[in-house]
Amino acid sequence: MKRGRPALDPALILSELAKTSSKWLDIEVFEQVDSTNDLAIARLSNTISNSVFAITADEQLKGRGRLQREWQSPFGAGIAISIAVPTSLFKCEVSAIPLLAGIAANDCLNNLGADAKLKWPNDLMIELESTELKKIGGILVQRHGDHVVIGIGINVDLAVDELPTENATSLSLINLRVARESLIAKLLMNLELATELTSEEWLPRYTSDCATIGSNVTVARKVESIVTGIAVGVRESGELIIDSSEGLVEITSGDVIQVRPSTK
Ligand code: BTN
Repeated sequence: MKRGRPALDPALILSELAKTSSKWLDIEVFEQVDSTNDLAIARLSNTISNSVFAITADEQLKGRGRLQREWQSPFGAGIAISIAVPTSLFKCEVSAIPLLAGIAANDCLNNLGADAKLKWPNDLMIELESTELKKIGGILVQRHGDHVVIGIGINVDLAVDELPTENATSLSLINLRVARESLIAKLLMNLELATELTSEEWLPRYTSDCATIGSNVTVARKVESIVTGIAVGVRESGELIIDSSEGLVEITSGDVIQVRPSTK
């Protein structure tokens, strides 16, 4: 117990998983790690594994985000989980897996009663009454050999002074309470279901879940240039398509630094 917050109960995670049809039951629980993604990748390097396994922790000391950012995981206040999945289990293209992980996690948040949306590729956002979006979670997918490690972070109970920026929020700050064990079980179940999705199934779901599509966006690309235009969709391979003054531009990786409703 730290700051009045209990540690994860591994038995409760298993009993929550037993309420679902999930076959992904190999889950290891730590009180403290540097990064669950780093630990999962180390495991993959040291063992021959063809199976799915998950690592979760109450606290990360060096949690990592996309684009070399840090991810804050104070003890007992959030979800920090990494799931190692053979890429062969997915029906979609490997480069689209981060978007499918987004669909799976976004669905969990909506089922809790949140007004959750995705910001491309897979930032987990909450839409406030002002139509402003605040970040509640994020996903870092890393490929390692024949596996992907899908790292999911969700702010469950972070207080205002624990949030990394003023553009972030947590479930408790929007008055939603959930046992972390139950949310972990639902994330695993939804991810397992997402492996089955074909592009005909996931593309329309992603389009309706994603606040970026249909908005004016400015994206900082890897090669230090920016592109501005209207996000009109995503490809089967996960790229964001932007209708810009350069014509249709596909973005594979980058940071959407502005999302405003389109005036078109
Ligand atoms: C982002 O929004 O930039 C992605 C954040 C991903 C955070 C999760 S928490 C579990 C896993 N372990 C990490 O070190 N990062 C991911």
